[in-house]
Amino acid sequence: ARCYALVPAAGIGERSGAGMPKQYVEIAGRPMLAHTLAALAAVPRIAATLVVLSPADERFEQALPGYGGWVARVGGASRADSVLGGLAELRRRGARDDDWVLVHDAARCLLKPAWVDALIDACEHDAVGGLLAQPIADTLKAGDADGRVTATVDRRDKWAAQTPQMFRLGLVERALAAMGAAATDEASAVEALGFAPRLVRASMANFKVTWPEDFELAARWLHQVGP
Ligand code: CTP
Ligand code: MG
Repeated sequence: ARCYALVPAAGIGERSGAGMPKQYVEIAGRPMLAHTLAALAAVPRIAATLVVLSPADERFEQALPGYGGWVARVGGASRADSVLGGLAELRRRGARDDDWVLVHDAARCLLKPAWVDALIDACEHDAVGGLLAQPIADTLKAGDADGRVTATVDRRDKWAAQTPQMFRLGLVERALAAMGAAATDEASAVEALGFAPRLVRASMANFKVTWPEDFELAARWLHQVGP
């Protein structure tokens, strides 16, 4: 079986407040998406990477001039729709049911090739697949609309889910199609079919650039440890 990467990059980045889709905001001199794709390109076991753009995207060619990888303008209204569009495109390009697909958020631009290798090592002989994740270090609180604590949640078995998330094409496609737009990641859709994905520890540095202050944080981190 081959390993493909699929990068959903069709969001609008509303929470980032950047005034443009956040994947095109420059971090340390390059668009966030360029950092993300460079990390995946540095993993030899990935046969090809497909970027999923919005059909309305007007920035990609200018932001990543001369990009030679696979690109499909099949993004949808939800992340799950964008991933499903990308999976269909991978099939058109020859991917098969039992090939692995590593879905990775464009917005996790601090990805390290070593973490991807660790994920593939842990999952390539697994019956289900798995995801990068980080055990929760903080005490967890549930809160209400007024910002008051309603409960303290036991953190000891809790993990923050990250990406890449690695599943076989046939399984993840069936799972996302069944769960629809409610799926905020691939693992939750696979879990809903009754499977238990493997948790593979990565790093807090594999965070998702989401809020305005995250751009600065990502830039500092890139300067510290290099792209
Ligand atoms: N994404 C996508 N298609 C969508 C929504 C999201 O391809 N319809 C992608 C984003 O581009 C991003 C990843 O999924 O790389 C994770 O989503 P998120 O961090 O929520 O990004 P946005 O949806 O763009 O941001 P926001 O929710 O703040 O609008
Ligand atoms: Mg979103």
